Amino acid sequence: MTLLRLAVGSMTEQAENKLNGLVALVTGGAKRVGRAISLELARAGCSVSVHYRTSDQEAQQLAAEIAALGRRAVTVRGDLNDPSTWPTMIEATVADLGRLDVLINNASVFLGEGDDSLEDFDPSLWARMLQTNLIAPVGLCHHAQKHLVAGGRGKIVNLCDVAADRPWPSHLAYCVSKAALVCATKALARAMAPAVQVFGVSPGIAVFPESYAAALRDHLVAKVPQKRVGSPEEVARLVRFLVENGSYMTGQVIAIDGGRSVT
Ligand SMILES: NC(=O)c1ccc[n+]([C@@H]2O[C@H](COP(=O)([O-])OP(=O)(O)OC[C@H]3O[C@@H](n4cnc5c(N)ncnc54)[C@H](OP(=O)(O)O)[C@@H]3O)[C@@H](O)[C@H]2O)c1
Repeated sequence: MTLLRLAVGSMTEQAENKLNGLVALVTGGAKRVGRAISLELARAGCSVSVHYRTSDQEAQQLAAEIAALGRRAVTVRGDLNDPSTWPTMIEATVADLGRLDVLINNASVFLGEGDDSLEDFDPSLWARMLQTNLIAPVGLCHHAQKHLVAGGRGKIVNLCDVAADRPWPSHLAYCVSKAALVCATKALARAMAPAVQVFGVSPGIAVFPESYAAALRDHLVAKVPQKRVGSPEEVARLVRFLVENGSYMTGQVIAIDGGRSVT
């Protein structure tokens, strides 16, 4: 009887996993928000290719956690500043996991206060920021397109930022890169339709940079109507929702920010 219940329970869980058999590539997937998205998509049924640049140990640990959930996981290393890594990451994922259905453009550069203001203007910094946060996501879409189309269920989620609409002068290049990524999300939705759907998710504060002092954190939280920070898991659940249920949506960018963007 117990065995039967377990079997029925497991069959129900499998049936509820709408993404069973699909493969997701999550850039910058080893830590923080990317880690939560990798785990959430694995729970939803995906095999996951965890991309990383420097976080080797965290990526391997995460792949083991995903394997323990009964999903396949591989890790793929690459510096997004180097365009030659973009096709390599896509092809390595397809070679190892057999297909590619979901691309999550999560990796990004965000500098500390005082490194990305007008006073600090540095063309090489701007080039690096735009390369990682804008051009690499578009390049990955370009190289992924044929695989996303072939599987028949292609989805892309770009991690943007509510600061795209409410830019901070102390993070100039970052905000501009994310505003351009919002535009790219809409443009790609048109360029890749009807076969592939493209979404944007714009967090407010999902998790603070480790360097932020308590006073700065309190100051920023006070501006949020819901009076708290979000969490990587909440962002990950929104990403999963869009991938699973956004069947008649494309080109939309959804804020998840405790209401900050309506203040
Ligand atoms: N955290 C928030 O509250 C928040 C708020 C608004 C928007 N967002 C957006 O949500 C996404 C995730 O946020 P997060 O705070 O978790 O991101 P993060 O920690 O700042 O960065 C995620 C990963 O990006 C990878 N990365 C950076 N430069 C790279 C490069 N040149 N090549 C390859 N990988 C590179 C790093 O991988 P390695 O560690 O392997 O080097 C890093 O772990 C980002 O797009 C961010 O802009 C986050």
